[in-house]
Amino acid sequence: MPAIRCARCGAEGARYHVSFARVSFCDKCYIRYYERKLRSTVLKYGMLKVMRRPLVALSGGKDSTSALVGLKSVFPDLEVTALYIDLGIPGYSEESERVVRKVTEELGVELVVHRLRDEGRTVPELAVGRFRRKPCAICGTVKRYVMNRVALERGHDSVVTGHNLDDTVEVLFELYRRGQLEEAVRLRPVLLGDGVKLANRVKPLFEMTDEEDLYYVDAKGIEVVESWCPLVRGAKTVSRKVLIHEIEAKIPGFRHTFLKAHVKRYLPVLEKVLGQPVLRECAVCGYPTTSEVCSYCRAMRKVVLQRGGEVAGGKATGG
Ligand code: AMP
Ligand code: FES
Ligand code: ZN
Repeated sequence: MPAIRCARCGAEGARYHVSFARVSFCDKCYIRYYERKLRSTVLKYGMLKVMRRPLVALSGGKDSTSALVGLKSVFPDLEVTALYIDLGIPGYSEESERVVRKVTEELGVELVVHRLRDEGRTVPELAVGRFRRKPCAICGTVKRYVMNRVALERGHDSVVTGHNLDDTVEVLFELYRRGQLEEAVRLRPVLLGDGVKLANRVKPLFEMTDEEDLYYVDAKGIEVVESWCPLVRGAKTVSRKVLIHEIEAKIPGFRHTFLKAHVKRYLPVLEKVLGQPVLRECAVCGYPTTSEVCSYCRAMRKVVLQRGGEVAGGKATGG
């Protein structure tokens, strides 16, 4: 079989085949391709204006690691800090922290570690009641809350996450299926906050596929966490991603068309029709919520009550 040539420089042994675009690159040209694409996404959506001092939420997985490494490589002057949230998942959290420490040390990026245990509750402890069978739901709520609060407390204007095209298409698929348009309207590359209690949320990998992120960390020779979270077993998000790949095999370009239709066609209409959600201050912690007590505080209260502790000013005591 003839060696595959790089689409850019013509060198033999092009290891990275970008399947949706049907092109192959050698290591050097792949890095160039990825970083150019990242730069173009960041500029296209005006991300630099809303992330002057970003806090990059770093899980140690391929996506958030690509976001951090990519941003540092393309915009070396950007003042970037990384946040790792120790969720207290035995084995998995320790391994993720080791990887996160390694990459931030290599890049010379400041790392902030926030431990849920220090506030009295870990994700396995929170996965009780209706969350017993779906810990990812409460885990997602806690992560979003902690990212926002830590960013604002430390004076960052924005939280950067590694959400990519595949993540967004998977969630959108479900939201449109169920008609949850209020949530679909929030799925965008940049979600502006209020600068006081809500940080801007930025997704620089909005147009990257899982495959592109995986190739990037591989081409850069960066270690990432490869194991799955042990609590995620059987999660619907995983089976939906598999389903979407099956659709893509039958309708090539499905994911890109779906995302483009969302951004260009549906979002502008949804924004007009739905307007902004009415937010108020959480009665416990003061952070914005649509209900009287935010979902983070409600989850915390449940755990504390189970332990016979008490809630005081958003911090749980006892236990
Ligand atoms: P997930 O909710 O696991 O799909 O992760 C979505 C994004 O949240 C990732 O791309 C990261 O940016 C961020 N993230 C997930 N887990 C953590 C963590 N333990 N610490 C910091 N950021 C995280
Ligand atoms: Fe959140 Fe596993 S990382 S449930
Ligand atoms: Zn609250």
